[in-house]
Amino acid sequence: MANKLDILRQKHEQALLGGGQERIDKQHQKGKLTAREHLMLLLDEGSFEEIGKFVTHRSTEFGLDKQKIPGDGVVTGYGRIQGRLVYVFSQDFTVFGGSLSETHAEKICKIMDLAMSNGAPLIGLNDSGGARIQEGVVSLAGYADIFYRNTLASGVIPQLSAIMGPCAGGAVYSPAITDFIFMVEHTSYMFVTGPNVVKTVTHEEVTAEELGGAMTHATKSGVTHFACANELACIEQLKQLLSYIPQNCEELPPAYPCLQDPEQLLEALNSLVPENPNQPYDMKEVIELVVDKGSFMEVHQHFAGNIVVGFARLNGKSLGIVANQPAVLAGVLDIHASTKAARFVRFCDAFNIPLLVFEDVPGFLPGTDQEWNAIISNGAKLLYAFSEATVPRVTVITRKAYGGAYDVMNSKHIGADMNYAWPTAEIAVMGPKGAAEIIFRKEIAAAKDPEAKLQEKVAEYTETFAHPYRAAERGFIDEVIEPAETRRKLIRAFDMLQNKAKVLPRKKHGNIPL
Ligand code: HXC
Repeated sequence: MANKLDILRQKHEQALLGGGQERIDKQHQKGKLTAREHLMLLLDEGSFEEIGKFVTHRSTEFGLDKQKIPGDGVVTGYGRIQGRLVYVFSQDFTVFGGSLSETHAEKICKIMDLAMSNGAPLIGLNDSGGARIQEGVVSLAGYADIFYRNTLASGVIPQLSAIMGPCAGGAVYSPAITDFIFMVEHTSYMFVTGPNVVKTVTHEEVTAEELGGAMTHATKSGVTHFACANELACIEQLKQLLSYIPQNCEELPPAYPCLQDPEQLLEALNSLVPENPNQPYDMKEVIELVVDKGSFMEVHQHFAGNIVVGFARLNGKSLGIVANQPAVLAGVLDIHASTKAARFVRFCDAFNIPLLVFEDVPGFLPGTDQEWNAIISNGAKLLYAFSEATVPRVTVITRKAYGGAYDVMNSKHIGADMNYAWPTAEIAVMGPKGAAEIIFRKEIAAAKDPEAKLQEKVAEYTETFAHPYRAAERGFIDEVIEPAETRRKLIRAFDMLQNKAKVLPRKKHGNIPL
């Protein structure tokens, strides 16, 4: 027996070394941790249970039969984060560059199947050179097996991806299907084709960091939701995000005790919106004041800043927040803002996270760039996402709610449950100046002093429509509230809505304008 135990212990030790000390040192020299070190940071101490530690590949080509490393380049298993069960895989770059073989894929699929049948989140830590080149098509088949499972799991269990190194070629599509992507600045990159292929095909000279680094995807493409300063920050943010979301689509998100007074009045909000409707203010200040102190976690911070999305807690309960940002492009809705918010709304709806909308939107962004790149279908995504969401939905109009954007931003007409307006709200087809220029065009042109006439008509339109009371008379706004009361009103509204049960018409699935 002692001998058999020795063999087992030796096998464990060998597996822990992955591709060997030299390659582990190389990983550290690059400022990166190893697959196992990542998992130690991610999971509650002592909670990790590994599955498939001794799995090896079955390849014989190119001398691979003489290079078998236990685990085959990915550490898989389950563990706990703040006591909650999660399934994890962490690719080991020290073993064949973390490349994906047939058996490496089988290990990931096994974990995904367990996560699905037990209803717990799946977290993938990616650090891989892509398909195991020596294996050919079986490696591609392995990728497809993962993509297929990612798709079936979408909306059933939360799936989070952290990119801790290379993620290139078709490998990018597994993280892309998952709910959130976290990237590490300077040590991770994602692209379908790398700088060399780009140079050959388009003659563009670009570095890997410029082409697919964390900040590139955080600011330009929006592919990553988080660009983290280092690996530790990445793992901490991933854990934080998990604290807002449930284990699966059948459960509610965890609630935490809140020590703040739920009846608290926030006087600062009464003077936050500037007198001049063209003057910007920072909607994040509104959010930070209203939600539980320090609980706001922004998602997609660096992308489409004209809309803000993120998680927060209100009286200890999770919310998804969507807010126009008057401080960026006056809070206008454009293609990126629409797709960013639509995907976030759909995530929240899939996982029973109520939605809170702060609205100050002058309309959709005009221009050939927007029209030719399909602001019509992209704007429709947000309209569709809100319309279809069955979670509790509350809107607060802080200032402008103009045109189609009024309808889109969680209006009563598309299924919002409670719609509040501040007295500063302006709810109309368009801003007073634009409106006056169109409906009084002839009168203005015929006037002795066209500019004075325009001002007179702008004032008339403002008086008639640039306030919340027409909408309140119709019941499109449930209540015009003092801004200071917002937190209290929202806590009560979401409490009132907590048993909301709404069922959509039976269908196979809808056809969102993708
Ligand atoms: C097998 C691989 C590998 C791969 C790296 N290695 N990528 N082995 N298959 N895909 C091995 C290397 O041979 C090396 O082994 C070790 O991993 C570390 O690699 P290095 O090149 O020394 O590391 P580094 O300089 O940091 O460069 C990392 C890298 C580079 C940029 C990722 O390795 C690279 O370009 N790899 C190939 C990437 C690629 O083209 N993959 C296929 C993409 S197509 P030793 O023994 O020397 O330590 C694809 C299709 C998926 O993925 C389609 C899905 C639908």
